[in-house]
Amino acid sequence: MQWGLKNRLSRIFNPETGRTVMLAVDHGYFLGPTRKLEDPRATISPLLPYADALMVTRGVLRNCVDPEGAIPTVLRVSGGASIIGPSLAAEGLTTSVEDAIRLNVSAITMSIFVGTEHERETLLNLAKLVDEGERYGLPVLAVTAVGKKLEKRDARFLSLCCRIAAEIGAHYVKTYYCEDFEKVVDSCPVPLVIAGGPQLDTFKDTLQLAHDAIAKGARGVDMGRNIWQSDHPVAALRAVRGVVQENMKVNEAFELYESLSKG
Ligand code: R5P
Repeated sequence: MQWGLKNRLSRIFNPETGRTVMLAVDHGYFLGPTRKLEDPRATISPLLPYADALMVTRGVLRNCVDPEGAIPTVLRVSGGASIIGPSLAAEGLTTSVEDAIRLNVSAITMSIFVGTEHERETLLNLAKLVDEGERYGLPVLAVTAVGKKLEKRDARFLSLCCRIAAEIGAHYVKTYYCEDFEKVVDSCPVPLVIAGGPQLDTFKDTLQLAHDAIAKGARGVDMGRNIWQSDHPVAALRAVRGVVQENMKVNEAFELYESLSKG
């Protein structure tokens, strides 16, 4: 792997633990002003000290994140579909690699929609992005998107998606936690991070999800709604961080969450 590419990945994955806590705040690119992310700057600012990297679009990065801040960014460069449009899978590339470099990002990211009518174009876009990213030493994160079909999140389907993304050249992959998650990890030759998905019933469920994913080989999380839709987003992120980066047990992290929530 090129030096620049390795260097950028080491800004995202803590070299001491090999893990990352990414904060996903890119949802507006297809959801618009979704709940508790209506004012991105207000949501993001208090969380920045506790995330290893921020997953974001260029519009929110330019307008809602101070350039003086040192947080590494993973720039979403795909879009073109909306929650009210005919298909969430109809995504193309929305941001050039040159703009990503101007924004000094640490990686670029896009979604692939395996098993949909847009499978081919999203996979070919991933191939193009890997070629362009590697020209400049920019790692590519592939997201195995399921759109509204959350029931598709099983090991067989996600293994297929993750493996295809890795075969095309993605440097790491974001997917979902599922039963038999170790099968997804074992059949994917690049690191996996997990999304949180829609807010779970309790915050303890979120911690359990992060804990189980790490125990089964995930290299981190890239969570959004389960953090910033929480009543206590900073406490939530610090507790998830405890699980991912400090090997906290679920109960221990939950105690931390409760004590920070009261403070
Ligand atoms: C969705 O497509 C976005 O890429 C999000 O970054 C991703 O879903 C992770 O956020 P959440 O934990 O809210 O699912």
